[in-house]
Amino acid sequence: MKILVTGGAGFIGSAVVRLAIQRGHTVVNVDALTYAACLENVASVAAHPNYAFEHVDICDLAALETVFARHTPDAVMHLAAESHVDRSIDGPGAFIETNVTGTYNMLQAARGYWEGSGRPEAFRFHHISTDEVYGTLGKTGLFTEDTPYAPNSPYSASKAASDHLVRAWGETYGLPYVLTNCSNNYGPYHFPEKLVPVVILNALAGKPIPIYGAGENIRDWLFVEDHADALLHVLANGVSGRNYNVGGENEVKNIDLVKMICSILDELRPSNSLYSSLITHVTDRPGHDMRYAIDPTRIRTELGWRPSVTLEQGLRKTVEWYLNNESWWRALQDRDGVGVRLGTKA
Ligand SMILES: NC(=O)c1ccc[n+]([C@@H]2O[C@H](COP(=O)([O-])OP(=O)(O)OC[C@H]3O[C@@H](n4cnc5c(N)ncnc54)[C@H](O)[C@@H]3O)[C@@H](O)[C@H]2O)c1
Repeated sequence: MKILVTGGAGFIGSAVVRLAIQRGHTVVNVDALTYAACLENVASVAAHPNYAFEHVDICDLAALETVFARHTPDAVMHLAAESHVDRSIDGPGAFIETNVTGTYNMLQAARGYWEGSGRPEAFRFHHISTDEVYGTLGKTGLFTEDTPYAPNSPYSASKAASDHLVRAWGETYGLPYVLTNCSNNYGPYHFPEKLVPVVILNALAGKPIPIYGAGENIRDWLFVEDHADALLHVLANGVSGRNYNVGGENEVKNIDLVKMICSILDELRPSNSLYSSLITHVTDRPGHDMRYAIDPTRIRTELGWRPSVTLEQGLRKTVEWYLNNESWWRALQDRDGVGVRLGTKA
């Protein structure tokens, strides 16, 4: 299959690109190379004959139309987005531009191309979204595909808006689509502004490890390579017009996640004191959702997909990767906003 992947120089997109090439697909990676991108993430496939890169902003409709005409993809996997909740609090405009207007452009370009190709039924527009569109859970309950949308941050609101656009393009214009809403990812190539790499890198530097509030917030963590596998699985087997929740079956409090990472580091890179002694509670994020948890019944029973690693196994692989890839993360530490507290301007 020839897949047009947007955001393929980012964290999850690059995992999709690497896996898709490994499985014999042809990939066109469309990325604007924002602060969150790193072409190093796809260096292992960059010279592959089945790989092409297009340096294009999804806010540029004419450029997208050219990309569709040039590459004639069988499917789209749309991951390009502004993705960091803290940045969305300080500067929501970029999130509306890329996540809402950019998705609108992707839908229009895909629709024009699909209609011009005779409306092939097998075409898919796969929109990659987040469980954050559902808002927050109390102590019990799970997000199903029928949970009403109730986004709480500018990031999740912009993703919710994009999900609605995708559904509308399917209902109104007949564009064949699948939509996935996934829980928090972690793994190799995770940009060093997100919780898991912040913990690893601050610990290694002997700096305080910041925990928002009491650290009681619960997330359902999924290893990024399992997410990439799930996405290719949904693309190939999902029913057009259907949405699928993707979760890691790994619910854990932030504070416990951080302690797990610290103890893996204690074992793999022992220091004079335990890394958990660096844990420091800081002011909570405004509008911080308390709990996310995915009910994975649909993807498990209808498509037969489950994650392959436990949280403990995935975290170990992740910590090992950061220990072995210092030049990758060092090069990103100078980027704008990395290593400073964001998301306080509410
Ligand atoms: N990270 C998570 O835990 C998570 C969980 C569920 C869903 N998602 C969704 O998965 C997708 C990918 O997330 P990620 O964590 O890999 O993000 P990321 O921030 O690591 O990467 C985003 C990529 O999109 C590109 N991009 C941004 N704006 C663009 C634009 N206007 N035009 C073209 N390219 C642009 C960036 O250059 C970057 O390469 C997002 O849609 C996100 O909402 C993420």
